[in-house]
This record gives sequence, C-alpha cells and structure tokens, in this order.
Amino acid sequence: MKKINHLGIIVDGNGRWAKERGLSRSEGHKAGAEALRKIILYLSHEKLVNYLSLYVFSTENFGRPTEEVNYLMELFLKWFTTVKKEYRNENIKIYFSGRKEYLRSDIVDAMNALENETADNDGLVVNFCLSYGGRAEIVDATKNIVRKFANNEITINDIDEELFAKNLYHELPDIDFLIRTSGESRISNFMLWQISYAEFYFPKVYFPDFDTKELDKAFKEYESRDRRFGKVK
Ligand code: IPE
Ligand code: IPE
Ligand code: MG
Repeated sequence: MKKINHLGIIVDGNGRWAKERGLSRSEGHKAGAEALRKIILYLSHEKLVNYLSLYVFSTENFGRPTEEVNYLMELFLKWFTTVKKEYRNENIKIYFSGRKEYLRSDIVDAMNALENETADNDGLVVNFCLSYGGRAEIVDATKNIVRKFANNEITINDIDEELFAKNLYHELPDIDFLIRTSGESRISNFMLWQISYAEFYFPKVYFPDFDTKELDKAFKEYESRDRRFGKVK
C-alpha cells in the first residue's frame, strides 16, 4: 500500500450512531473514542502514515449542551492521562492543536503532560485538534507573525507561504488524504491552510463503526486518485 504522509480524519457520527441504537449521545462518544484508540494503534503498528491529524472537538462544539461538553472533557481527561506510558512505548508523538485557553486547567495539564511524555519519540505523529478551529489557527498564526515583525525579528518581505506555515500551531506537512465519516460532505473549519490539495473521502459509516477494514477501504480509494497539483501529467 502506498504510504500516506499526512492523513486527516474528521471524527463524525457518534451521536447518530447512538441514536440509532436507542443510546445516549455520551455512549456514542464513548464508542467513538474506543474506535479511535484502535485506529491510532493500527496506524502506528502498520506504519501506514507518518502524520495523523484528528478533529475531535471544534471551537464551535463548545456551543453544545453543557452535559455533552462536560462528558467529552471527562473522556479526554481520562484518555490522555491513561495512555501516557503506552504511547511513549509505542513511539507515538503527540501534538495538540487548538486554543488551550478555552479548556479546563486539569485537561490542559493532562495535554501538556502527554506532549512532554512523548516529545522524544520519532514514530507516528498524532495531532489532536481539540478546541480547534481552522480560521482560529490562521488568526493565531497571523498574530505570531505580527509579533515577530514588531520585535524586528522579520521584515515584510520575509512573509511567504513557507513562513506562514511555520507559524501555525505545529510544523506539519500538508494533508494528503482527508476522511470524514458519517456521510457529511463538509469541512466544518478543519485545517483550512493544510487541506489545499488534499484528496477528500466521505464514507457513510458512523465513526464508532469505522474499523481497520474501513480504513483499508479508504486507503484503496486513495491509491486510485490521480493527484495533479495543478499540473499536466
Ligand atoms: C463527532 O460526532 C464527535 C464530536 C464532534 C465531538 P458528533 O457528536 O458530531 O455526532 P453526530 O454528527 O451528531 O452524529
Ligand atoms: C466537526 O463535526 C467537528 C468535529 C468532528 C470535532 P460537527 O459534527 O461538529 O460539525 P457539523 O456541525 O456537522 O458541521
Ligand atoms: Mg457531527
């Protein structure tokens, strides 16, 4: 199978998965998190991608009912505190992208601890987009650049696409392949800068049912795509 440098996944459909089964939305999120943990380990073991960006909570998701937001935050807290050793031993390197200032301090502490614990790893990079918005990232990068300009660290002529990309939350390559589960064909503010030339794939399956078989199907689809980047082949 052709290796994908940077895979993006918009985790979607947890709520509808639960509703179809007469379960609460929270139970859908629990099942989605379990599916996601398996996908991460599979990608790490099989070495099918170098970078994995996961959209797990948008800045807009703070507008959901408090009970749901709180459940998700507890889920993240438990997840990030329990996988530290496992991810370190798996050689997985964790990044977080998003506005940490909107999050509870105990969750931010767990995120920082997980980033620190895995900082020296050089295997699969997993970038969790949490409290994340693509426009917010572009605004925050702009602020970084203006700050550097004001400190005389750069001049106007230094500002180009390469410099801009370096001022995003992390230095990540462009996304090659973007999967959004649940049949929705939209981006919902995910990594707007990094998806310029991404191939999109929108399987109908809800995320809790997105297993390694589904992932293999997605990879086959990617292999069939002809990427031209504006040129003629
Ligand atoms: C994705 O599932 C998880 C998050 C956005 C946190 P949803 O909660 O959006 O599930 P649906 O779209 O309502 O089915
Ligand atoms: C996008 O999904 C955000 C995440 C997957 C974290 P949503 O379910 O929140 O997006 P919309 O509302 O369908 O666009
Ligand atoms: Mg959704």
